[in-house]
Formats: sequence, structure tokens, C-alpha cells
Amino acid sequence: ARGDALPRDLEGRHVVVSAGGTREPLDPVRHLGNRSSGKQGYALARVAAQRGARVTLVSAHTDALPEPAGADLVDVSTAAELGEAVDAAAADADVVVMAAAVADFRPAGTAGHKIKKSDENPDPVIELDRNRDVLAGLVARRRPGQIVVGFAAETGDAAGSVLDHARAKLARKGCDLLVVNAVGDGGAFDADDNTGWLLASDGAEDRIPLGAKSELAATVWDAAVRLLGDDPG
Ligand code: CTP
Ligand code: CA
Repeated sequence: ARGDALPRDLEGRHVVVSAGGTREPLDPVRHLGNRSSGKQGYALARVAAQRGARVTLVSAHTDALPEPAGADLVDVSTAAELGEAVDAAAADADVVVMAAAVADFRPAGTAGHKIKKSDENPDPVIELDRNRDVLAGLVARRRPGQIVVGFAAETGDAAGSVLDHARAKLARKGCDLLVVNAVGDGGAFDADDNTGWLLASDGAEDRIPLGAKSELAATVWDAAVRLLGDDPG
């Protein structure tokens, strides 16, 4: 709908977007993964390029998606690889958007051979190590004027609503913007439409209506451009 009249308001900006879901190898044929198609991250990259940005797209297992025009694509697999690629690209970035589903844990060891069933060890336990938080690292090293955007998929539970969890996560993460997808009944995974909230660290809370992922992308870039202000970077 907005296709013809896209503003060139990201001209001269470098933006970094992570997309997809990381995989943590268990053995040569298995991994722990995260459900994420990468469609939202790709929409963010595509729209940013259309609005004039130089775009680095760090992509984890988004194999089915066509490469967005005008983006520099960096393929990664594990959370550690994604973190390295994002950190490197973020050094001179104006905006970093962490749309990827990053594994919180990785197997403590990766077997060099396929793990076999055995009667000696009928119920094996997988030991996990914690992965570092890429978004938290970006926030800690953020340059003045650099905008950091996080994503969260939340469900309500006994401890609070989707919005309660999202507000707490925004405060904990310290990012400038947090895009919250309400998931639960089928949810946002692999869908073409997304709904949720856009929370800002200044307290602004905007409901994002159900719509195409390109519409959500436009909303995120609108907010980022507002925060970037007139500083040409
Ligand atoms: N994220 C990250 N590095 C990680 C985990 C998450 O950069 N190791 C980023 C995601 O890309 C996302 C944001 O942090 O932008 C929120 O991810 P989420 O999984 O919702 O947050 P967590 O702090 O991991 O909380 P939870 O325990 O709910 O998974
Ligand atoms: Ca997590």
C-alpha cells in the first residue's frame, strides 16, 4: 500500500538486522533450534533498503527466503556466529534490530560422531551452557545516538499479561525499542501477518494492528527515524 510513496528517510544510514533462528549442534546430524522463519527480519531489511539505508542482514537458517534486494547478506548458524557478525556490523551502524530468535542455550559439548541409542544409557541427559545475550552486549556498547531494537514473542501466564512481560523485558534489556509479538494460539511463527506492541524506553506504547510484516517493518523504521532525529550520524 505504501510502496509508491516510501520516504527516503534512511538515506546515509547503516542499519543492521538479524533474522531467522540459530542452531546449536548436538552432533553432526542434530541441533537445538529456534522456530523463526526470518520473514519479519527480511521485511525489515527490505523496507530499510527501500527507504535508502545501507543494510547488513545477518541471517540464520532462513533458507527458503529470497535475498532482499539491496542488503548485504551474512549467513550464520549458531548464536555465537550470529553475535560475532552482528557485533562487527554494529560498529558503525546507526540502528541495530535484533529480530532473530537466538538460542539461549547450547549443548555443553558437541559430539564428533552421531549419538547412538544404547541400553547402558537409555535416558540420556543433554547438558546445556548459557549463550551470551547479543542484545545486552549491543546495549552495553551502544554509541551515542545509536538505536538498538529488540524483539520479543510473549504469552500471558499466571505471572502477568503479554504487556506486563514485555514492559519488564524492555526495562531489563535496556534497548530503545522493543517489538512485542503476542503468541499463543498458533502465534506469529511463519505467518505473513504479525500483531503486537511497539514499546519505547521513553514509555511510549503503540499497539501494532494486525497487518503484513512489511507494515510492522515500516512502523519500526518510523520509530527508529524519530529517535535518530536530525543527527546525520
Ligand atoms: N537475544 C539476544 N541474544 C540472546 C537471546 C536473545 O540478542 N542470547 C535477543 C533477541 O534477538 C531479541 C531479544 O533478545 O531481540 C529478546 O529475546 P527473548 O528470547 O525474548 O529474551 P530473553 O532475554 O532471552 O528472555 P526469555 O527468557 O523470555 O527467552
Ligand atoms: Ca530467549
